[in-house]
Amino acid sequence: MEVLVLPTPADVARRAAEVVIDGLAAARRTAPVIGLATGSSPLGLYAELAKAVRSGRLDLSGATGFALDEYVGLPAGHPQSYRAVLLREVCEPLGLTSERLHVPDGSGPEEDELVSGATEYERLIRDAGGVDVQILGIGANGHLGFNEPGSALSSRTRVKRLSDRTRHDNARFFTGIDDVPTHCVTQGLGTVLDARRLVLVASGPAKAEAVAAALEGPLSASCPASVLQWHADATAVLDEAAASRLRNRQYYDASAAGL
Ligand code: GLP
Repeated sequence: MEVLVLPTPADVARRAAEVVIDGLAAARRTAPVIGLATGSSPLGLYAELAKAVRSGRLDLSGATGFALDEYVGLPAGHPQSYRAVLLREVCEPLGLTSERLHVPDGSGPEEDELVSGATEYERLIRDAGGVDVQILGIGANGHLGFNEPGSALSSRTRVKRLSDRTRHDNARFFTGIDDVPTHCVTQGLGTVLDARRLVLVASGPAKAEAVAAALEGPLSASCPASVLQWHADATAVLDEAAASRLRNRQYYDASAAGL
């Protein structure tokens, strides 16, 4: 695991974009697969990737995107559905067409439809040859995608209940807490671990505790993001505030400097 600590969120975005671009190049595929996270943390990273596309340094015209998760029960086209958010904020600037964006389907009214959709999602990822680079944020409670504390470390895409903490954290995107869905469909931690490279970005003091638990605490379902420790090619790119509770900082800085 590599831990890169940069002064500001803008530096985090630039450095994380380099790690993503490098991972896509290393995959050497004409149709690379990129794993997309929602939330505010990766927005700067997406803007940097969009810059690289505009300058011709990065070509995503043949790429496919797979979202980590989706709310259950929002009508198709709801502006806060992750499909709508990703189309608007990520695919458009990156030049990824809507046909090449896959998002778990949370709109089915029946539970068995959601369950079969989740199984189908796993098949779609496999058929695309797996995810080359998975972009990740982290919830303040250590969640990854919508894998809340207690999620099985080997879990696959499935329907899950959202924690009260996550619903409150995400209420800012809705008119009020009552409008925040109670359930989601999320890639499992086992699904995330199958990606060839993981790139986690986090900024700000609100993430410091979760970051420390994820990177330096025990590998535990109580902190789903701790699965990064299990992955052979995982990089966490953090700003100073998000890194403020890490204990092994000196080692990370020396390693990053190539010492
Ligand atoms: C949501 C998403 C996660 C994301 C988290 C953090 O719950 N499902 O994938 O990491 O929010 O969001 P933010 O980056 O806005 O803090």
